[in-house]
Amino acid sequence: MTKVLVTGAAGFIGSHTVDKLLAVGHEVIGVDNFRSGHRSNLAGADSNERFTLVEADVSADGVLDGLVSDTLPSAIIHLAALVSVQDSIDNPELNYQLNVLATHRVAEAARAHDVKRVVFASSAAIYGNATDMPIVEEAAKLPISPYGGAKLASEAILLSHGAAFGITVRCQRYFNVFGPRQDPASPYSGVISIFDKRYRDGKGVTIFGDGQQTRDFISVHDVARANVLAATSDGIKSGWANVCTGKATSLLEVAAIFAEHYSEAPAPILGEPRKGDIIHSRGQADLIAKELGFSAEVTVKDGLSELIRLG
Ligand code: UD1
Repeated sequence: MTKVLVTGAAGFIGSHTVDKLLAVGHEVIGVDNFRSGHRSNLAGADSNERFTLVEADVSADGVLDGLVSDTLPSAIIHLAALVSVQDSIDNPELNYQLNVLATHRVAEAARAHDVKRVVFASSAAIYGNATDMPIVEEAAKLPISPYGGAKLASEAILLSHGAAFGITVRCQRYFNVFGPRQDPASPYSGVISIFDKRYRDGKGVTIFGDGQQTRDFISVHDVARANVLAATSDGIKSGWANVCTGKATSLLEVAAIFAEHYSEAPAPILGEPRKGDIIHSRGQADLIAKELGFSAEVTVKDGLSELIRLG
């Protein structure tokens, strides 16, 4: 059994990561300030005696240092973040605080208290408008939002601390994650969470553009498993890897799967393309297979069926 500290534990990816860690027998300390995470996401974990939840802001001075010094985890999975790209554009200062400064706090707490492993929620946003598909890890890192910039800076902060102080650091570059508990509240929320909510409410969806655009949609269950592997596998070295399926799915395909189930729903409306939208995004999934022995198992069809069943 390993003791793992998870920041952002009540969030979408955080809560699934907590569930997976508990399911395979680990002890978990979750920390969240409930800015975007929800208490209800931890309904399953709450009844587990191997789970402790702390309400705190990990970007605040001294908070993580105190927590890590009190609990001495073997690994930290750092998922707390300002998660919305649009929020980072509207408020770059807050993006700096929650997506850069908080990472520095994690790096420093790990150094000060000899935590040997840190796993970080990076993002395909570090690649910006990549045009060569699939996107390989060596692709140019030219982020086009403060969010993407902060994720890239965080990778450098953690990897350099790792090299200097003997911490194994894994930067997980998530592509388009989807699944239960993703918040559909904003127009910039993940498209699948928006479609799921609208279909459940008996409404139709709007596809921005012709629907031929594609994304590499990966189930949150797979992402949680990749996080557990990165935090607990023996014999792995510091580095980064795409967390993706390697497969592209178009929005028309996504809408068609929903429409099959919600046969009464109005047909999708094709609207104007969204400003700044990229047409295609698909990662190469080979490196994480080699380094962590991970490959995605949940197909988009199965992942959407799960959402529809839960609806
Ligand atoms: C991601 C970010 C987005 C950011 C963009 C920058 C997420 C969830 N979104 O967008 O905030 O601006 O990177 O590259 O991380 N779509 C519809 N109808 C809807 C909602 C979305 O057709 O109601 C389309 C979008 O136009 C896009 C596709 O669905 O073509 C996927 O959108 P989204 O889930 O926001 O992901 P990204 O485009 O990858």
